[in-house]
Amino acid sequence: MKIAVFSTRSYDQYYLDRANTAHELIYFNNHLRPETVRLAEGCEVACVFVNDQLGRPVINALAAGGVRLLALRSAGFNHVDLTAAADAGITVVRVPAYSPFAVAEHTVALMLGLIRNIPRAHARVREGNFSLEGLLGFDLHGKTAGLIGLGRIGVLVAKILNGFGCRVLAADPYARPDNNAAIELVDNQSIFSQADIITLHCPLTPQTHHVIDATTIEQMQDGVMLINTSRGGLIDTQAVIKGLKTGRIGHLGLDVYEEEGDLFFDDLSDKIISDDIFARLLTFPNVLITGHQAFFTHEALTAIADTTMVNIDAFAAGQRSGNEITKELVTGS
Ligand code: NAI
Repeated sequence: MKIAVFSTRSYDQYYLDRANTAHELIYFNNHLRPETVRLAEGCEVACVFVNDQLGRPVINALAAGGVRLLALRSAGFNHVDLTAAADAGITVVRVPAYSPFAVAEHTVALMLGLIRNIPRAHARVREGNFSLEGLLGFDLHGKTAGLIGLGRIGVLVAKILNGFGCRVLAADPYARPDNNAAIELVDNQSIFSQADIITLHCPLTPQTHHVIDATTIEQMQDGVMLINTSRGGLIDTQAVIKGLKTGRIGHLGLDVYEEEGDLFFDDLSDKIISDDIFARLLTFPNVLITGHQAFFTHEALTAIADTTMVNIDAFAAGQRSGNEITKELVTGS
């Protein structure tokens, strides 16, 4: 099959070429947008990533150009208009799991980086400044961590935090207790009121959009640490900035950002950042941001490429892939 691969970076091409056995892959550096959708003309598959735009106009244009399969190189599918895809007769497949360890470990890396001020300490040492003023941390041991979302990644984060000696609370309306981890299943309210560290591991849905907002921040402990490696839209960034200014939020670690589509995955180091909210976040000494790299390990990229090719092979063979995004998956029924 002829496959248009959007948002390609050198690593995507390397791992997809390794996994490909039968197909013609055409790589585009461009993100998929209304103005770039014509690049897929004549291809049967469009292979996309998290910041490609897949609203109805793009989906319809893909279908008009011959695309019948949308192969997501991600687990999250909140950026895809699935109704439009169904209307256009386009099948959508994804990579439901690719090293949840990668994301869980990065989540804890953000926590530790913030707690022990690692980026600031490193910058000082490079300058020959060995002062410890302002670098005071705290022990993770004995702290209460609250997880919102206890799926594949959440459970791993819980287990790692168990290892540090944390008390772990988790809120997830659909979670089943895991006997291999010490986790107390609670509601969001208990997390907001009790947790020293709150970390988000649920998908972005209408129910979880801005689960962290001015109201919920008010319910949190003073100086709480907030970590988001899931999706930017879970957090109302303006409310979080207010929380940082008042000190209610003591540390913020982000791997995702609501408006990341115009920023992440590109080298903008010689450009002016026009997003004033993001620019404000960068001014806080107690904020640590990575550019959606939690998934970015050798193991995860191998799994993403392998599963993407298995999904495409199944479609080419006329089989239904177990990784198809169905209505049941979306409604949770
Ligand atoms: P998963 O599907 O295994 O787990 C998600 C959990 O969230 C499920 O247990 C579900 O019941 C729960 N959930 C759903 N609605 C909820 C609600 N209203 N409140 C609380 N919990 C709710 O997904 P997985 O693999 O653990 O991934 C979690 C999220 O991590 C993904 O949705 C994705 O957005 C994000 N992610 C980020 C990556 C990165 O590189 N930063 C890479 C991969 C995933």
